[in-house]
Formats: sequence, structure tokens, C-alpha cells
Amino acid sequence: MAKVTLTVNGRTVSGDCDDRMLLVHFIREKLGLTGTHVGCDTTQCGACVVHMDGRSVKSCSILAVQAAGSTVTTIEGLSSQGELHPVQAAFKEHHGLQCGFCTPGMVMTAVDMINRHGGKLDENTVRHELEGNICRCTGYHNIVKAVLSANAEMHTGRQAAE
Ligand code: FES
Ligand code: FES
Repeated sequence: MAKVTLTVNGRTVSGDCDDRMLLVHFIREKLGLTGTHVGCDTTQCGACVVHMDGRSVKSCSILAVQAAGSTVTTIEGLSSQGELHPVQAAFKEHHGLQCGFCTPGMVMTAVDMINRHGGKLDENTVRHELEGNICRCTGYHNIVKAVLSANAEMHTGRQAAE
């Protein structure tokens, strides 16, 4: 057993867990944040993507003990003051989801992608970088549209603020 302390969605949290517990299970079972999904447990589907120290990671590929001391953001921590994050709003507007199972991971991956590319994203890059996120419903087209739309929105906002 180990005691793990980390910052999740801006709050310092602690929990006891087995040394072998995956971060995704710690987030869901110990913290009750069930927006992060488990689709495979074998690093294929991307449903479990969260941000750890600012970068997207598959939380089924990390042990909870490895995340000790880090800063994690889950889908529950993305909106601010009741407002959807621009990527969440774009998924809604462009129908980038059907059953919604893949959506938290898709959104977290997209936010990191947009942040890393500084607004310079094209369709090929989006499709390439979404390869680690599997959706069984949408055919991806509207997801890609949503990511590009959010990218444009976030980039324009950034330019306006500068
Ligand atoms: S549950 Fe982590 S990649 Fe599928
Ligand atoms: S919306 Fe159903 S798996 Fe993607």
C-alpha cells in the first residue's frame, strides 16, 4: 500500500492505494471522478486521457504512485465558472459525439494538441494526433471539425488578447 498525494483539478488530494493501482482507477475509484473512462486498459483507446503536468497522458498507462506530486487535470476540471471550455463547446456545436464514451479523452487530447501547436493546426495533423483515440460512433469527421473550430476560436481569442 502507498499513500499518494497529488493536485487534481486545482485541489490537493490524497488516497491510499495498492502499488499496482493505475492512475485511471485512482481517479475514478478513489476520487470519484468518473468522467475519465476506461475503454481498454491496454493503452489503445484513449478514453482515459487526462493532463499530467500540462501534457496529455493515457492514465491507464501510469501507476497512481508515479503520479504522486504531479498536477492532474481531468475532464471535470476543464470548464471554468460554469462555462464550457472552447473545445467542449466546439464538440457540442459540431456534433463531435454520439454515445459520448470517447469524448472526455478526445477533448483532453484536443486541448493539449491545440496548446502545443499554438493555433497552427491543419486537418492532417489533427487526424494524425487523434490516432491514439478511438471512437466507435462518429466516423471522426465531426470530431476533426470540432477540433479545428476550437483551434480557430482559441487562436483568435489569443490574438485579440495580445
Ligand atoms: S483505457 Fe486507457 S487507452 Fe483505453
Ligand atoms: S461517440 Fe461513441 S465512442 Fe465516440
